[in-house]
Amino acid sequence: MKVGVIMGGVSSEREVSLATGQEMMANLDSGKYEVIPIDIKQKQDLLEQAKGIDIALLALHGSYGEDGTIQGTLETMGIPYTGCSLLSSSLCMDKDLSKKLLRYEGLHTPDWTVLRSMADLGDGRMDSFGYPLVVKPNAGGSSIGVTLVRNEERLLDAVQTAFSFGEEVLLEEYIQGEEITCSILNGQHLPIVSIKPGAEFFDYTSKYEPGQCDEQVVTFDKETLERILQAAETSYQAMKCSVYARIDIMLKDGVPYILEVNTLPGMTRTSLLPRSAQAAGISFGGLLDAIIEGSLS
Ligand code: DAL
Ligand code: MG
Repeated sequence: MKVGVIMGGVSSEREVSLATGQEMMANLDSGKYEVIPIDIKQKQDLLEQAKGIDIALLALHGSYGEDGTIQGTLETMGIPYTGCSLLSSSLCMDKDLSKKLLRYEGLHTPDWTVLRSMADLGDGRMDSFGYPLVVKPNAGGSSIGVTLVRNEERLLDAVQTAFSFGEEVLLEEYIQGEEITCSILNGQHLPIVSIKPGAEFFDYTSKYEPGQCDEQVVTFDKETLERILQAAETSYQAMKCSVYARIDIMLKDGVPYILEVNTLPGMTRTSLLPRSAQAAGISFGGLLDAIIEGSLS
């Protein structure tokens, strides 16, 4: 089977995507697959390079990769691809829409508001927000452009930074709790991983520099575990995910607050999903087999 590993891309997460792609290529079973690396350097590259592959193994992150655009292009080209559908990818990429759906399902997610311009800051909406708060691009990943704002003086800079990565900016209540993540693979949840970053939040360096974050598989009492799993599974279904996704959660006083659902979670050497799979006895190669099989079935 010819597997095209689609990586790189044109988003701010290009470097992360290349790392995901390299790791995937190193772990794909060469006895089963003919591996074809496809580095997307500009949007049109997919059209030229994906011809002739049997499946696109998506190693892309961020816009033009994780947001449904590539998925739609591959559907138009008649090429199967791994992971969530076009619709699910688009939904999960938009944090504001995701949070609205999560709330509709009765799940907890930090309070938030969306800014469409700097002027929105002056319309009184800040009155209901205390500090610290989190400022992030509404459609981004890998914590790029994200700031934990501890006081009003830092707010303007943080919002300006976030706007440099997209047209909408999310202001979000900061939940002081234990950050955990729960991945779902072909309908089964994988072991929950607890994240303890060296930095004040799980930023880019904590995510990708080896040794900058303590990530451990954790267990919980029965009731808390049930609440976490139920929240993760409900999120997965509400966002119409399929094959696999990673749900990021803040746990406070035993209550899971959903931060977001990642449809193409990182698969780099330091990433959470492969670690969680490993704890379930699934090797990186086995994880890729499961993703490919799940996507073709
Ligand atoms: N956006 C990064 C790659 C992640 O979710 O892991
Ligand atoms: Mg993310």
